[in-house]
Formats: sequence, structure tokens, C-alpha cells
Amino acid sequence: MRPEILPTHTAALFDAAVERAVALLRAGEIVALPTETVYGLSANAFDPAAVEKIYQAKGRPAHNPIIVHVASYAMAVECVAHWPESAQKLAKSFWPGPLTMVLPKSARIPQIVTAGGNTVGVRWPSHPLMQAVIAKCGFPLAAPSANRSNEISPTTAEHVRKSLGDAVPLIVDGGAANVGIESTVVDLASERPRILRPGMIHEESLSAALGDLLVNGESSGGALRSPGMLPKHYAPKAKLVVLDWNSAEQLRSQIRDLKYQSADVWVIAHTEIPLQHDWRQVSVIPHDAEAFARALYAELHRCDEEGAKLIVVEALPDDAAWRGIADRLARAAAAES
Ligand code: TXA
Ligand code: MG
Repeated sequence: MRPEILPTHTAALFDAAVERAVALLRAGEIVALPTETVYGLSANAFDPAAVEKIYQAKGRPAHNPIIVHVASYAMAVECVAHWPESAQKLAKSFWPGPLTMVLPKSARIPQIVTAGGNTVGVRWPSHPLMQAVIAKCGFPLAAPSANRSNEISPTTAEHVRKSLGDAVPLIVDGGAANVGIESTVVDLASERPRILRPGMIHEESLSAALGDLLVNGESSGGALRSPGMLPKHYAPKAKLVVLDWNSAEQLRSQIRDLKYQSADVWVIAHTEIPLQHDWRQVSVIPHDAEAFARALYAELHRCDEEGAKLIVVEALPDDAAWRGIADRLARAAAAES
């Protein structure tokens, strides 16, 4: 029965999972693999027919380009038309890790990967399973997050199974994702480096590594530079709001104004923790950006599974370390549901 789900918690199981994933990928199949950010739905990036299967399984619009994952500098260089100084600086500081660099693509990358564009997003992930699979394949892997289009990204193998089910032949279970939100995407193909999608590697770290300031915000040219930047992208089924409160009464009155019953409300808090019995559920995530990112999507998945109607997330600190998380919450909050 599809999907096959393979564990990796011993050396022998790890090797067997790599073996099986590589065999399927070489045969032009798609495979869901763990990365340190979120699970990815992978295919041979050099094989357009294999990449087409990713779009089909996700229901992904053809205009949304896919990130290419590599496991060496040589492989990264193979994917791009040229490797600028800025890419070298960022790679040296942040690879392997949750950073995707958008660069002019090489002729080896098929149009379907870049949605017809002439740039490609390249990332060297740090998850050992993903690295082992790419190295053994000998070709880079195109991989978007392993969820149906517009759903929240999966941070566990079980999230992948629930979202993609039998649309994928194999899911490798590499444990819960350690970063928890998608990689930072930086455009290095324009005149000035620019963040297209904020993430856990934030603006201040990038600027420090580049020795240059980044340009902020989305393209002003009107072109769809990074479709993941569309407001309605990472959305749970429930309505999500971000609120600030200093007392239980203040929280209650805000939710009364939104016209929800307390039994339908799931609160995710980090500092001002409301009483459990006032709400359907109160989840506490530590007031630490890395811990918060790691836990957030699993909480949102749980809210959906358990039928919460309103998810209330306590407002986040306004500083660079939290910006990637704030971005995902803003998108989830912008979605109609
Ligand atoms: O952490 C991640 O980035 C995960 C893991 C699996 O690596 N992948 C991921 O892929 O989040 P996806 O497809 O869900 O999001 C990729 C984002 C999208 O916003 C896409 O538009 C943007 O990267 N992107 C990819 N290639 C691009 C390109 N050539 N130019 C501009 N944006 C690009
Ligand atoms: Mg995605």
C-alpha cells in the first residue's frame, strides 16, 4: 500500500532508507524526504518528467518555481550560470543550512523547475538523510515542501502522509524538523541582494556575512519574483489571528468582539499564558525564536486536526530573529477561510 514509510533511527535503517529513496529517484519517481526546515517532496532536478510529478502530487500551480537541493559546492555550481562573490560569502557562512540563493540558472536546469524563469533557487540542506540521498544520487533534487499547495508545510513524516497520502510512493521518516519553518530565500540575481522570503537566517546575519545591506521587500517591477510571497500561502483551515493581551479579561473581550465561542478557540502563547480551562486548548511555546519556529507548524497542524475554529497566537517580539515566523503568521492570518 502506498505510501511506504521508512524509519531511520538506526544506522542500518538509515542506510536502507537512503538505498530505497535513491532507487526510486533514479527511476524518475518522487520521494518525500526530511530536511532541517520542513519535509520536501523530491525529484531529480535534471529530469523534467520527474519534476512534473511534483507539480501533480502537490496540485502546485505551474508558475511557482521549485528550489533545487545540492550536497556540494560542485553540484551548486553545476546548477547556476555563474557563482558570484556574494553567493560564495553566504554559502561559506550558512551552508549547509536553511538558506536558498536565487541565481541565474545553468542550461542543465530544465524550465519546469524554474517555472519558465531564468533564475534558480539553490539550497544545500543540513539534514543528514537528505545529504546522503543527494550525494548518492549524484544529481541535485528539486523539492518544494511536501504538502498539497497552500497548506501548512509538514514538519513530520506523519504530516506528509496526512497531506499527500498515496500521491507519493515513499516517505522517509527523519524525525521532527529542527528548524521548523521554510528556508530564507535571498535573490542574488538582481543588482542588490534582497530577501524574497524571510526565515530563521535573518536580515542582520545576512548583511553581516555579505558586508553589505540588503534591499528589503518584494519586487517593485510587478513580476512575480517569488510566488511564495503571495499573502495567501501558508494557511491552516481555521481562522488565525495574532493578538496582544495583558490580562485574561483583555484576551476574552477581544475574542468576544471576534464573535467566537471559547470552546472553539485554540490559544498559542509564549509569555502571557491564559488559563487552560477558559479555552478549548492553550499551547505554550517557549519565548525563544528557534524553539517557537520548531514547534509552530506542529501546533497549527494539531489545531486543524482537532477542529479548532479560531487560532489565537500571541503577538511576537518585533526583532530580526522573529521576522521569519512573523511572516508566516501574517500569511496564515491573511488567508480567507
Ligand atoms: O526550506 C525550504 O525552502 C523547503 C525545503 C523542502 O527545502 N522548501 C520550500 O519550497 O519551502 P517551496 O516550494 O514550498 O517554497 C519555495 C519558495 C517559493 O516561495 C518559491 O516561489 C521560491 O521559493 N522560489 C523558488 N525558486 C525561485 C526562483 N528561481 N526565484 C524566485 N523565487 C523562487
Ligand atoms: Mg511550500
